[in-house]
Amino acid sequence: MKTHRIALYPGDGIGPEVTDAAVAVLRAVESRLGGFRLEFTRFDWGAGYHAQHGHVAPSDFLDTLRPFHAVFLGAVGWPATLPDSVTLKPLIQMRQTFDLWACVRPARTFAGIARPLVSGHEIDLVVIRENSEGEYVDQGGRFRPGQPEEFAVQSAIHTRRGIARALRFGFELARKRRRKLTLATKSNAQRFAFTLWDEILDELAAANRDIAVDRQHIDALAMNFVRRPESFDVVVASNLFGDILTDFSGAVTGGLGLNPSANLNPERTSPSLFEPVHGSAPDIAGRGVSNPTGAILSAAMMLDWLGEAPAARAIEHAIEAAFGQGHRTPDLGGTLNTVAFTERVIADLT
Ligand code: NAI
Ligand code: MG
Repeated sequence: MKTHRIALYPGDGIGPEVTDAAVAVLRAVESRLGGFRLEFTRFDWGAGYHAQHGHVAPSDFLDTLRPFHAVFLGAVGWPATLPDSVTLKPLIQMRQTFDLWACVRPARTFAGIARPLVSGHEIDLVVIRENSEGEYVDQGGRFRPGQPEEFAVQSAIHTRRGIARALRFGFELARKRRRKLTLATKSNAQRFAFTLWDEILDELAAANRDIAVDRQHIDALAMNFVRRPESFDVVVASNLFGDILTDFSGAVTGGLGLNPSANLNPERTSPSLFEPVHGSAPDIAGRGVSNPTGAILSAAMMLDWLGEAPAARAIEHAIEAAFGQGHRTPDLGGTLNTVAFTERVIADLT
């Protein structure tokens, strides 16, 4: 029987409770469906670890994670005691060192879950966020700190290879869905980076004529995520634009707690990383009321990646069934806490 070795990085704030929820669902699907085994190793890195050791993760944490088949992360960040640039650094290091260049972020509405937009359409879109370069490469500096003439330089790196592989991934995904691809651009003002994105899109569009291609400047695209989100299928975006857009897509489908993500290394030369889109939610941390849906659906994406598609579908159906029966956490207007909602999902696993 196949054994999947999973590293757990629960992190900070609500990270550990949504990770516990995801693991409980994974354990349940493992025992009900059979056919595979899951082996979890937990690493308590983050703000608490920093208080004891002076760093959020050991210096060799990437070597520690490399042998695993996948990494599952809850959420990181505890701004009350540590700057986000410190707590989030391991996450960015994993994405860049493991070359997790395809960040796949689906956002969809669920029957029975209130939709914040008046139009009330069903939404089913996927943002592919370029995850390895772009605006999140650490290039730049702060000069003359604290002086009146202080200035900061932060540059972005967009490579032909990085852009092309993100777009190709988008085309392939669109082909399995509704055959529409939208590029988030800003070539009217960012005249170097996004003209390159536009040109590579044109080149690839010519080779993928079965896919309807469109590009929108990020400002208009953000507006259209509110105005007509149902019109989008696959959206490909740079690192920063994808990050921003996926909080939007979370909000318009009913709440950030619903949305999963996969940070994939499609070549499978290093472990891929699965995590909900949301952060550590310090405003509700410690109360046990967070919505574990994004984490549980991220676990389903992880099973898909590990070749356990029926188990992944079972989890998605269990979430749909739980919502269909009216089970909700407080962020969706319900009264169930994280553990109680997770129990309802497990009860619906078949
Ligand atoms: P956030 O996503 O943690 O929270 C935004 C809002 O959504 C809050 O009101 C929160 O209560 C709510 N929310 C988020 N997830 C929820 C859930 N599962 N159930 C119910 N409500 C939920 O974003 P914020 O406040 O900007 O950042 C908090 C910390 O998280 C910061 O340190 C930030 O850097 C970090 N962060 C970490 C990420 C990660 O680990 N991948 C991603 C985004 C932010
Ligand atoms: Mg984000």
